[in-house]
Amino acid sequence: MLNIGLLGCGRIGAVHAASISRIAGARVTAVSDAMPAAAQALAAKTGAQVMDSDTLIANNEVDAVVIGTPTDTHYALIHAAAAAGKAIFCEKPIDMSADRIRDCIKAVEQAGAPFMTAFNRRFDPNFAHLQASLAQGDIGDAEIVTILSRDPSPPPVSYVKSSGGIFRDMMIHDLDMARFLLGEEPTSVFAVGSALVDAEIGAAGDADTAAVTLTTASGKICQISNSRRATYGYDQRIEVHGSTGMLRAANVHEHTVEIATQSGFATAPAQHFFLERYEAAYLAEMTYFVSALGAGTALRPDITDGLRAQMLADAATQSWTTGQPVNIAEG
Ligand SMILES: NC(=O)c1ccc[n+]([C@@H]2O[C@H](COP(=O)([O-])OP(=O)(O)OC[C@H]3O[C@@H](n4cnc5c(N)ncnc54)[C@H](O)[C@@H]3O)[C@@H](O)[C@H]2O)c1
Repeated sequence: MLNIGLLGCGRIGAVHAASISRIAGARVTAVSDAMPAAAQALAAKTGAQVMDSDTLIANNEVDAVVIGTPTDTHYALIHAAAAAGKAIFCEKPIDMSADRIRDCIKAVEQAGAPFMTAFNRRFDPNFAHLQASLAQGDIGDAEIVTILSRDPSPPPVSYVKSSGGIFRDMMIHDLDMARFLLGEEPTSVFAVGSALVDAEIGAAGDADTAAVTLTTASGKICQISNSRRATYGYDQRIEVHGSTGMLRAANVHEHTVEIATQSGFATAPAQHFFLERYEAAYLAEMTYFVSALGAGTALRPDITDGLRAQMLADAATQSWTTGQPVNIAEG
């Protein structure tokens, strides 16, 4: 039985607690939150004990921690959990600064702590199937990857101001997906962005509509399209064009019923947002974390995957602000 300590009982903490309750061989034994009511609510659901973060991390009965606290708290929690010899599952982004992630890598490596970065979309059954098909050569070599990722509506401007910007906050998932599918490190990033959805987002110095082109050393290309608004629901699609064919993962709809009338064919809206669309992915990533720890196998995506995605997000932000392509080191 893997005993898990949950740090952060907000939106994503509740998702992870629900996943763990569905996994035989794991349980939430302790929860911690800066707001006692949030911790109490998840403790009531899971039967876990409420502790403060330091006590939870020091607790000998806790084998692994799930870090679902705000991004600016990850650094200290990672250092403390690594020093205490815990396995770590950490939400994305690991930190807003690539240098601070490098510090975390040192701490994790020194401690030999198993570490997984929670890029849940790799575990979405549709995207995982697409990647497996690509990896086994079903469409030859990947040449152009297209990732479309649009939220149903923009977050409040107060959130945007502390989010690190659209490339670090939102596109980071797509940048990780690009690496997952390309199988090569992007070496060049070119980004454009505008505030077309909410002028206040623009006034806060961010974009709500953005596109990025990534290129690898061998010339493979990935195009990412992001918007903070999609009137038809959460738009999450991927297409990979390869040397002998094409793979495409379409949106997941609320149901599969189609209606046809004189005015045409209609289907249900796309599933509304990430909590619904990626429920299976959140369960699959946590199931993988628990079973890989049990088997003692290496975890992926690991902390270096978290760093590489952050480097791409930083490069995209720089490209957007300077209007120039940014080269990044391959290694
Ligand atoms: N992978 C995904 O799809 C996904 C989705 C949402 C959020 N996230 C990430 O998860 C993290 C949390 O986001 P959220 O939306 O759940 O935020 P949230 O605000 O809903 O929840 C965070 C919780 O952590 C608590 N907290 C703050 N400081 C703490 C500390 N030092 N110790 C313990 N608890 C503390 C807060 O009181 C709050 O209840 C962020 O890094 C975010 O980027 C990832």
